Amino acid sequence: MLKHIQLLKRLIVCGTYALWVLVLFSIVKPTLPWSELGELMGEAAIGMLVIVTLPGILKRFEVTGVYKQIQLLLMSVRRQTGDLMFTFAVAHAVWVRILLYIRFGLPDPASIPLFQIFGTLTLLLLFPLFLTSNNFSVRLLKKNWQRIHYLVYIAVWFAALHTLLGIEGQIWGILAVGIGVAQIASWMNVYKKHRT
Ligand code: HEM
Repeated sequence: MLKHIQLLKRLIVCGTYALWVLVLFSIVKPTLPWSELGELMGEAAIGMLVIVTLPGILKRFEVTGVYKQIQLLLMSVRRQTGDLMFTFAVAHAVWVRILLYIRFGLPDPASIPLFQIFGTLTLLLLFPLFLTSNNFSVRLLKKNWQRIHYLVYIAVWFAALHTLLGIEGQIWGILAVGIGVAQIASWMNVYKKHRT
């Protein structure tokens, strides 16, 4: 099992690096049709957000059996899936908008739709998580590391607003709301257990 987890980790890390290379390549060749792939990256980012937050939710619900197995598996690759999630989100932002800004210039800030502002805020919130997703930061930041990583709970709701207010990604918004509600319910479960 351990061997398989190591292999899975390596595969995720390789995929993450490959995606960064593709993002850099797209900046050199912005005229290629990246935007469709960009939409897919947004969907993958939401999917990964679910995968990254699910083990914490399962843990707080104190699940057993097969759910516990899923929790442990996802927990053991959480750093890698978190990095991949951020990379999907960056690829999405670059391919659906930033390349257009590089080619045609920045838009009038007043013309930027609200859903896109929420998308940008989501990415900004996820950035410190990505930056501190390493052992060095865990040691350096101690308790503050956990506080920084709590930002993911806000990011989920911003991602939900981004997709719900957007053009055609509402189904992904519903998924993000679902995971946001599950997070709240799981914390309430912990709170209830502490009180009794
Ligand atoms: C600077 C940050 C971001 C920008 C500029 C941005 C921009 C956009 C735009 C313009 C669309 C509409 C695409 C279209 O229909 O042409 C979109 C859709 C979407 N975005 Fe973002 N986004 C950002 C961040 C994020 C983040 C962080 C996530 C997820 C964690 C995300 C997830 C999605 C999803 C799931 C869709 C719907 C895709 C579909 O099914 O059509 N976005 N975004």
